[in-house]
Amino acid sequence: MKSNTAQAATAVQPTTTNDQCNGHSVYKPGLEGVVAAETALSHVDGQKGELLIGGYRLEELAANATFEEVVYLLWHGSLPQQSALETFEKSLATQRALPPAVVQLLRAAAKEQIPTMTALRMAAGTIDIDSANTNDNSDPTAQAQVILARLPTIVATYWRLATGQEPFAPNPTLNHAANYLYMLTGQSPTSAQVRGLETYLNTVIDHGLNASTFAARVIIATATDLTSAVVGALGALKGPLHGGAPGPALDMVFDIGQPAHAESYLRAKLASGERLMGFGHRIYRVRDPRAEVLAQEAARMFQADGDMALYELAKTVEAKAVALLAEYKPGRNLQTNVEFYTALLLHGLGLETDLFTPTFAISRAAGWLAHCFEQQATGRLIRPQSHYIGERKGGWLPIEQRN
Ligand code: ACO
Repeated sequence: MKSNTAQAATAVQPTTTNDQCNGHSVYKPGLEGVVAAETALSHVDGQKGELLIGGYRLEELAANATFEEVVYLLWHGSLPQQSALETFEKSLATQRALPPAVVQLLRAAAKEQIPTMTALRMAAGTIDIDSANTNDNSDPTAQAQVILARLPTIVATYWRLATGQEPFAPNPTLNHAANYLYMLTGQSPTSAQVRGLETYLNTVIDHGLNASTFAARVIIATATDLTSAVVGALGALKGPLHGGAPGPALDMVFDIGQPAHAESYLRAKLASGERLMGFGHRIYRVRDPRAEVLAQEAARMFQADGDMALYELAKTVEAKAVALLAEYKPGRNLQTNVEFYTALLLHGLGLETDLFTPTFAISRAAGWLAHCFEQQATGRLIRPQSHYIGERKGGWLPIEQRN
């Protein structure tokens, strides 16, 4: 690299090459293995393939609880009793309507036909335009409730506008999951559809210190507001290495089209160095337990009223992909992750691929907000160190003398 300085630059010697060096910590690319928070919200055991949410095994919680119950569990530390649940449900249900300025923004975004996740990220920053200056200290979760109640309205409103349809007003008689499906279509969903969506929302609500949750904690640790933390987390979730994978995972299944084509298609992708979306995970070395819960829910849904050929094709693609990943990336233990069956389940619910990541976001936001409460309780700024690998330069030159 060309230096702008008159004198030869000298490289600064690394000071942090191992745990002991000059008392500095070792640099861990991607913070792999670094413990950066304590949490009582979820426990991810990547070796055993176990996930606890609010202390409960995912398999026990996901298919039984309503989404509101799991949010309450994360925000308050225990499952609600009937009266507390009713109060919480009512509070969320009555705060879903968007301020007119947010709808105006969504109309402008729809004209540009931007992806739904981008519209969600943009509109989320304006979500509290009517309450950003309110200092209600009586309930620490009050602002979080506004955010959680309105995110599905943003997604459904944008989706309808972007597809040339007028949005539906939220229906306060429906619960969180049912209302989301209603606002997308204008139809009251069946109880099987609501159960399918709730199982999905419960499954992805929290997952240790994943990238978007870490982003939320870093942001809230500066003593800023919850909306800022959620907007930052949305930006992190949007990336294809995190929450952006289920759309491409389903596209891949559709591209393959029939079981007999799976092997040649997947081999070609792996041989050209491409990643298979919906497979691999930083923590799990066995099958992601969320994939199992969602696979079972998808099987129930597809068997009751769905395209079983697509379901069977997806099972074949999964089996072939896992086998080929073992062949192409030996020793990596690359297994199915949550996104593969997310794609199938949400497709079964009638959602288009562009809605997959935003639907993930409306659940994970509850987890981000719970992590914000935990982080606020520590009162500690998150501020790691970096390891300078640039040069030590000298000999300042005025701009007209530089070449
Ligand atoms: N397909 C092909 N190869 C893969 C895949 C995959 N899905 N995942 C990892 N690998 C390979 C990498 O290329 C790398 O190979 P190399 O060492 O020969 O270069 C090796 O396996 C290790 O990969 P890393 O990137 O170090 O693994 P990391 O833990 O950082 O990656 C990640 C995790 C990002 C999820 C990765 O597995 C991936 O890209 N998967 C596909 C995208 C996806 O499904 N994302 C959703 C994740 S779940 C969630 O966030 C909710």
